[in-house]
Amino acid sequence: MTFNLLDWREDAKKRVAWEAVKLVRDGWVVGLGSGSTVAYAVLFLGKRVREENLKIKVVPTSYQIFFLALNEGIPITTLDEHPKLDFTIDGADEADKNLNLIKGGGGALTREKIVAFASERYVVIVDETKLVETLGLKTPVPVEVLPFAVSFVVREAKKYWVDVKVREGKGKVGPVVTDNGNFIVDVYCGGIKNPKEVDDKLKRIPGVVETGIFVGVADMLYVGKKDGGFEVISRS
Ligand code: 5RP
Repeated sequence: MTFNLLDWREDAKKRVAWEAVKLVRDGWVVGLGSGSTVAYAVLFLGKRVREENLKIKVVPTSYQIFFLALNEGIPITTLDEHPKLDFTIDGADEADKNLNLIKGGGGALTREKIVAFASERYVVIVDETKLVETLGLKTPVPVEVLPFAVSFVVREAKKYWVDVKVREGKGKVGPVVTDNGNFIVDVYCGGIKNPKEVDDKLKRIPGVVETGIFVGVADMLYVGKKDGGFEVISRS
């Protein structure tokens, strides 16, 4: 498969999406993360379903991916029917070489973490701008929070980090409301030396539903490169 080279990042995202989709086998139940890179994977999955008569089912993690999969004619199922998934494809906002991730730019982090942990193999696809030495320098940690607790969570998080913001909606006034009916609080942690510790600290605050720090769950990271290639980093 060849791709248009006009925009290298889009090209890189498509390339790794296709590589991940090539790993999917007949009969699998596949978790789908959210975001623009996963959206490419859904288009490629749809193509395989139609052209190869691939018999798969998918568990989407957002309305974005649910409607895209529906549109592509990919059979959709739920975690209730399939609490164990064969495979999940997801994007990320940042990833390091140890396969630690920051996720939640699209606000779907809680369902994404659930499918990640429910999955036999969890594959993450990013372009090379997302691969970092140290997590947190460019991206805040998104935290999904119960609306009832939002001011309390902001106050508690500010005991550790100065810059903590309730995410505002675009195309909507007021806070972003997730597909689960919660708010997103973006916590600007700066360079994160110990992702697990930050995750634990945030999770200890009552009202926090989940954080966008993913530690020890990704099996493979596909990184699409500007030079037209890609790199695979596997769990050691
Ligand atoms: C959504 C996510 C996305 O995977 C992450 O934001 C990356 O998105 P994109 O592929 O559009 O850059 O975590 O909650």
